[in-house]
Amino acid sequence: MVLNQEIIDKIHRLPKVELHRHMEGCISAELLLEIARDYNVKLPTDNLEELRSLIQIKGRVGSLQEFLDKFYWVGMAFPTLEAVERVSYCVCRDCARDNIRVLELRFSPVFMSLETPHGWEELLHAVLKGARRAENEFDINVGFIVGISRSNGLKLAMKAVNIAGSYVGLGVVGVDLFGDEAAFPPELFIPAFKVAQAQGLNVTIHAGEGGGETNVRTAIEELGARRIGHGIRIINDEKLMAWIRDRGIPLEIALTSNVQTQTVPDLASHPVRRLYDYGIKISLNTDDPAICDTTFSKELLLAMEVFDFTLDEIKGLMLSAFDQSFLEEYRKKMLRPKLEMELAGVK
Ligand code: HPA
Ligand code: ZN
Repeated sequence: MVLNQEIIDKIHRLPKVELHRHMEGCISAELLLEIARDYNVKLPTDNLEELRSLIQIKGRVGSLQEFLDKFYWVGMAFPTLEAVERVSYCVCRDCARDNIRVLELRFSPVFMSLETPHGWEELLHAVLKGARRAENEFDINVGFIVGISRSNGLKLAMKAVNIAGSYVGLGVVGVDLFGDEAAFPPELFIPAFKVAQAQGLNVTIHAGEGGGETNVRTAIEELGARRIGHGIRIINDEKLMAWIRDRGIPLEIALTSNVQTQTVPDLASHPVRRLYDYGIKISLNTDDPAICDTTFSKELLLAMEVFDFTLDEIKGLMLSAFDQSFLEEYRKKMLRPKLEMELAGVK
């Protein structure tokens, strides 16, 4: 589809639902610089463009690991609890400005605590406080997913799951496993995700991205994943595709991120349309918009431009993402009619 200003405006106005977005990957060079100035954090440069080139990917990187290396300086954005709250607020506010009405935002307490003396509980409180402030000011609902980095090992995964479990019903809706999939396959983390399920946490796992498609089956069968981050390598295995379709397990797709990490050789070969046409549930997402230099609206427009998704299909994807969301059922019951009405209003 050829895009024009009218469709660009409609997509911006559209009420949106995003399920796979890392808070750390939403920290722009501007925000990082502001925090560094306000809290005396030492960065390698105080030049905005130089800083941007350190944290943002232009074109592609060689691997998922090189992509993950881009997060190094972003870790400096959390020097105090006030800064953590501010980051959380700014990220949710920026989503609301892109008309995201329902957001699942993930963050790693381990990563966040690297540069602060604060404990995870305090950090979590600050994150929730920032989001609640944004929810009070803007039309957005946020659920948090506690992210667990594969490279932090099983012991910290257990600790993260236990903290997340104590915030079920208080803003945390699930847990996620992310990071270097090739080096740390999902089966290493089975004990932690068994505990997560027992605590009523919803599980989503990055799988079939930096590692093989069999990780997707393990994530579902052994770790209890109810959604899969990326998962696009299942395109190599039709039996697995049928199995995932029949189980109704959704894939959280992020087009630009998948190109940048070389999970696909180029955008045109991304399997999003084939997966969708096969009947697999999907959502569209940004993953790490500040690092990938994208926005949610841009990702939806890419899907329309390159894969011919129509406006009606995009609206359908918003409702489907809403239904896939881990938000508490009572909140979903309240929010769905309004979302339906607002979607119908964009013609
Ligand atoms: N994959 C693995 N780890 C990540 C990602 C991702 O897409 N984004 C942030 N950490
Ligand atoms: Zn991700």
